[in-house]
Amino acid sequence: MLDTFNQHGFAMDLVEKTPTPFYYYDMDVLRSTIDEIKRCTAGFPFKVHYALKANGNPHIINEIMHHGLGADLVSGGELKAAIEAGFPTQDMNFSGVGKTDWEIRFGLSYDIGCFNVESVPELDVINQLAQEMGKTANIAFRVNPDIDAHTHKYITTGTADNKFGINIEVLESVINHALELPNIHLRGLHFHIGSQITIMQPFVMLCDTINGLLDHYDKRGIHFEIINVGGGLGIDYSTPDTHPLPDFESYFNTFKNHLKLRDNQELHFELGRSIVGECGTLITRVTFVKESRNKKFVILDAGMTDLIRPALYEAHHEIQNLTSRESTQAVYDIVGPVCESSDVFAHDRSLPVTHRGDLIAIRSAGAYGESMASRYNMRALPHSVFHTGN
Ligand code: LLP
Repeated sequence: MLDTFNQHGFAMDLVEKTPTPFYYYDMDVLRSTIDEIKRCTAGFPFKVHYALKANGNPHIINEIMHHGLGADLVSGGELKAAIEAGFPTQDMNFSGVGKTDWEIRFGLSYDIGCFNVESVPELDVINQLAQEMGKTANIAFRVNPDIDAHTHKYITTGTADNKFGINIEVLESVINHALELPNIHLRGLHFHIGSQITIMQPFVMLCDTINGLLDHYDKRGIHFEIINVGGGLGIDYSTPDTHPLPDFESYFNTFKNHLKLRDNQELHFELGRSIVGECGTLITRVTFVKESRNKKFVILDAGMTDLIRPALYEAHHEIQNLTSRESTQAVYDIVGPVCESSDVFAHDRSLPVTHRGDLIAIRSAGAYGESMASRYNMRALPHSVFHTGN
């Protein structure tokens, strides 16, 4: 049977027969996103790693692995998932300020491509555990470049005030220390300045900082095999129908034009949101429409447990009524059923007049949606469906 698609591209047969709430993944959008990355990086010594934290759904990570991307990991659980999905272990990076001993040992046992090291105590523990296991640990230092990425305060990571990375002023002494450790192989420098960055200027500043560091270490005869610029490219949460693909062209051009890579040096990226953000939608059904003195509420069967971004970061997601046949609009607060006042997807949003039973799409939810779901209020975790073949 041929699928029927609504104006936003959803296969309505699949949507209508699946119990809500659920994540609907458009695998064609995911594939075109990865194709665009491949197109923009072809011919350059660039290696893109997928940040599993954005979406760890086995079906999604498996698809991404088959396209040849590496894996960026922040926990033993993610390392296990990446191994199960079949990512080559030399294409795995392990980041995070608080790697525990078992997680370090786990990474060492697979000889992963790189531990992104965030402090001297961590470096010393990695060296010691590697020694005990008769291994040499591949590492890069995560440098905190003190660049303000002009994004939400909870997702800014590259300024001197937050917990991430090694301050640039002490990098030299930390590198000197690493070069003396017998079970450490220093491969590179790592940076990550924040997430949902939609202007290129912070990335240009990052390139300038890196160029300065490379000039300095050239003089000392220290060569880095890898420069890793992290993730952070933003997506268009306001008009996902017209901009389903992030602006990879400008993003990769920024590094092509501004970063002076040396010979035998690879540029690594750790992209999460820009790879999976637009392919995922949270589909939910209206349980009730309720009117109070001043407001109309649309109460959904999805809540902050399924998608926490609006409650946690006041994040904007487009919300569409997929089944209303009404021609007039009304203004609603769109909320979930969880017993928290912050369980709100949107305030004062205009929708076609909405009724109990209507199907609602919360768009651009592929990144940090399902992966941040919780079981608060003893709710079930959302399930997922995958659509291929538009
Ligand atoms: N590399 C490192 C070291 C990171 O910390 C992150 C994200 C990434 C790569 C991937 O960044 P992306 O390309 O996705 O921007 N939950 C928040 C986002 C948290 C980002 C954490 N780090 C949200 O829903 O907006």
